[in-house]
Amino acid sequence: MNGTLFFITILYSIVTVIGVAVYFVVIASTKRGRREGGGEAPIASMHRAEPWWAVFALVVVTVLFFGTLAGVPWLNRAKADATVNVKALQFVFVMQPATVKAGNVDFKVTSDDVSHGFGLFDPDGKMVSQIQVVPGVTSTLSTKLTKTGKYKILCFEYCGVGHAQMIGQFEVTK
Ligand code: CUA
Repeated sequence: MNGTLFFITILYSIVTVIGVAVYFVVIASTKRGRREGGGEAPIASMHRAEPWWAVFALVVVTVLFFGTLAGVPWLNRAKADATVNVKALQFVFVMQPATVKAGNVDFKVTSDDVSHGFGLFDPDGKMVSQIQVVPGVTSTLSTKLTKTGKYKILCFEYCGVGHAQMIGQFEVTK
């Protein structure tokens, strides 16, 4: 687990704990209200507290926004060492070039016919990443490939009778 992932995990855990705590506080206050016979809610004091709740919400959203900015992938995109142009069509992936050196790779993917999916699997069969392929649009998938060997590309979007056989291949060398 890298630093960013660890940070996000901790952050989400804290937010979850706070959320659950608020849930129980609300339940407890409802029960207390019933026990005390209900009656009118103290609207005036609640009204006075309203701006502070707005400030609280603003602070929470601001902290979450800046705190998670480091995890946004397209802000940290590394400069590509190699670019692979991929054309997806029923029912093949045309890769150009079909061999790249290990490093940061940009896949520029487009479709000539219908929507496809570009699912990238490493030589151990583990999924690396995936991207949607839409006709008329070139989508970029930036990823770091360190394992050498034969990678597979599976189509992730039902695109016709040959969809299941739509498997591409390319190689990463040292
Ligand atoms: Cu292409 Cu499914």
